[in-house]
Amino acid sequence: MEIEDTLLMMPGPVPVAPRVLRAMSKPMINHRGAEFSAMYDDCCEVLADVFQTKNDIFILSGSGTAAMEAAVACTVGPEDTVVALENGKFGERFKDIIARYGKVNPLENEWGHSFDLEEVEKKLEEGAEAITLVHNETSTGIQNPAKEIGKLAKKHDALFIMDGVTTLGGDTVMTDDWGVDVAVVGSQKCLAAPPGLSMISVSERAFEAMEKKDSLPYYLDLKAYKKSGGKSQTPYTPAVPLFFGLQEALHIVKEEGMDARINRHATGAKAIRAAADAMGIEMFPQLNDDNSHYSNTVTAMKAPEGVSGNDIKKDMIARGITIAGGQAHLSGKIFRIGSMGNVQPKDIMLTIQELEVVLKKRNVVSDIGAGVEAASDVLDTLL
Ligand SMILES: Cc1ncc(COP(=O)(O)O)c(C=O)c1O
Repeated sequence: MEIEDTLLMMPGPVPVAPRVLRAMSKPMINHRGAEFSAMYDDCCEVLADVFQTKNDIFILSGSGTAAMEAAVACTVGPEDTVVALENGKFGERFKDIIARYGKVNPLENEWGHSFDLEEVEKKLEEGAEAITLVHNETSTGIQNPAKEIGKLAKKHDALFIMDGVTTLGGDTVMTDDWGVDVAVVGSQKCLAAPPGLSMISVSERAFEAMEKKDSLPYYLDLKAYKKSGGKSQTPYTPAVPLFFGLQEALHIVKEEGMDARINRHATGAKAIRAAADAMGIEMFPQLNDDNSHYSNTVTAMKAPEGVSGNDIKKDMIARGITIAGGQAHLSGKIFRIGSMGNVQPKDIMLTIQELEVVLKKRNVVSDIGAGVEAASDVLDTLL
């Protein structure tokens, strides 16, 4: 199978529109010139709508993890305690980053299990300068209750640092309304740009926390980003070709409109869940109350009895569709289908059709058709 014929249905990187690829082949420009500044401002304008914020937004040359580290490294000092909420791989990553800069008070749930808000509040009552949450835990397909955590953070006067890496640009995120002090996103997920850039919104309160710190990181110094942002520039040489790509990807976001984009993402994930249900495949997340939900951008399913999730992934790749397996101890136990970025109903239909064939060959389903029919019933609402 030619690599160019492969359909990426993994939770990032996602397929990038040809016009984004073309934009990246433009000649380089002076990153201290007017043309770059205009592009920078153009990107920030669309991002303000994506983030739903009036806070400062910066674009970092570095993947989502760089923005996670910038968020923590700039606001958390050795004497600060941070409640780190973990129910998957990326919650664990936040916890590990915090441990390098300050004190962690972790709330470690079994991966894929939703948080109990009372337990979260108890942690905050023990005293914390900040709390971290992964809005959409990509590793387990669970959407965590950001709005509710935001309320608790405010009540206990803790900075709210949120990873919106696989929600911003594809799902509802209300940065200001939810009181998110620092929110981060990666370019290669719902925004459907190539990997390598990350974006971060920073509140006044977060900047105040930076003022109290003895030292800030150098390359990821958000105060330096603010100073340069005032001139519509970045402090250091940005990844210019990726900016060209991001700008074009954001034009696509603007043309579609965030409401339509959010609806398309939610409907796509709903269709995948309907298909799974029709094929007797169980969802992986364990939702224990109404505050958490299945993800609108990545669907994590339990591997069927007697079949490894990695075999399903391998079979799908052989048929030209790249899906994801489970990370760390979930390897083999689950498989995941990403439906983020510019993924269209026809991409989801093809994925479900091939999945159904794979499951039939592995004797998981006896007939082909129920999954396709269930998915199309949901996707037809987009027509
Ligand atoms: C929720 C979440 N946070 C953080 C990351 C890390 O982003 P990156 O791989 O761009 O550094 C990812 C990547 O998959 C993610 O899904």
